[in-house]
Amino acid sequence: MTNRQWRLASHPRGVPDLETWSLHDAPMPEPGPGQILIRTQWLSLDPYMRGRISPSANYAKGVSVGEVMQGGGVGEVVASNHPDWKPGDIAEAMNVGWQEYAVLTPDLPGSAKVNRVDPALAPPQATLAWLGMPGLTAYVGTLEIGRPKPGDTMVVSAASGAVGQIVGQIGKLCGARVIGIAGSDEKLAWCRSVGFDETINYKTTNDMAGAIAALAPQGVNVFFDNTGGPIHDAVLRNLAVAARVVICGRIALANDFEQEDIGLRASSRLIVTRAMIQGLVVFDWWHKREEAMSRLAGWHREGKLITKEDVLDGFERVPEAFLRMMAGRNSGKQLVRL
Ligand SMILES: NC(=O)c1ccc[n+]([C@@H]2O[C@H](COP(=O)([O-])OP(=O)(O)OC[C@H]3O[C@@H](n4cnc5c(N)ncnc54)[C@H](OP(=O)(O)O)[C@@H]3O)[C@@H](O)[C@H]2O)c1
Repeated sequence: MTNRQWRLASHPRGVPDLETWSLHDAPMPEPGPGQILIRTQWLSLDPYMRGRISPSANYAKGVSVGEVMQGGGVGEVVASNHPDWKPGDIAEAMNVGWQEYAVLTPDLPGSAKVNRVDPALAPPQATLAWLGMPGLTAYVGTLEIGRPKPGDTMVVSAASGAVGQIVGQIGKLCGARVIGIAGSDEKLAWCRSVGFDETINYKTTNDMAGAIAALAPQGVNVFFDNTGGPIHDAVLRNLAVAARVVICGRIALANDFEQEDIGLRASSRLIVTRAMIQGLVVFDWWHKREEAMSRLAGWHREGKLITKEDVLDGFERVPEAFLRMMAGRNSGKQLVRL
């Protein structure tokens, strides 16, 4: 038996395409002492992967040409040399990679740890979405950095996506008025259906700064920025006094990874508003994972958190799924079911 893998074929310059990865047959891996072998059932497609395939990967080690593409996944244990894991258990980990089988080391610390999935609590793929890394990102970014409170106006970009959909709903639970920004009317209708108060389609709005000002005449108290770029600039023009800005992602600039991020110079606006801007790397917050998962699961059970995923079927379609998510053709958390 072989293990099919998607390996990086070349570092893309600009927008990656289907030739960026190539499909290989590798020998079936064997778990060593203390390790488990899983058969992958779900793979997660995330914007951070664009950084990992850049030759100058940023906060984490990138993928070298010829290596298996990095990525999180969920799978069933098929062999175990670890006393706490047995065949049939379901495992989730950030380092499964784009492959049909993976050897994992359950006892690694922090975000490298293998998490046990209890299918009685939620569908296993939820641990790649609202009950996993994107959920933790939304939870800590909103509650620890953005800190919306009743009466605040909060803006979230990429509002219908894996992170944004949770941010907006946590903002509502905190009593804020939430404005979602996304690139299609269909995505925005879904955001309103789960409680967002107002929405803006950035693809059909010429004057984004004006549109935000019209919906937030007292200014924006909390901005959860998933995109960077022109949306970022338009919201910064509208900050309220003592605003909190969470810099979570810059997908609008992801394909210009090696270029300088040049845009609005906001320093005078920041002085006037005494605003605070803070970057977020979810891996710094792994100690909050259990708290976040427990509260997100509670809200989900109570119907206060509604989530959406976008599933493609088939290992062959993993690169396609990544490219469609980067191009905004996903509607909700992008996953592939094997
Ligand atoms: N800092 C961290 O630790 C951390 C952790 C997780 C995620 N993130 C970041 O959070 C952001 C959202 O991630 P996600 O997993 O939830 O992805 P997602 O929102 O489910 O999918 C990405 C979305 O980005 C939007 N997009 C693509 N190109 C864009 C552009 N040029 N301008 C504006 N929007 C664009 C698209 O939606 P539209 O239809 O709206 O264009 C697309 O659906 C990403 O920037 C990601 O890197 C950061």
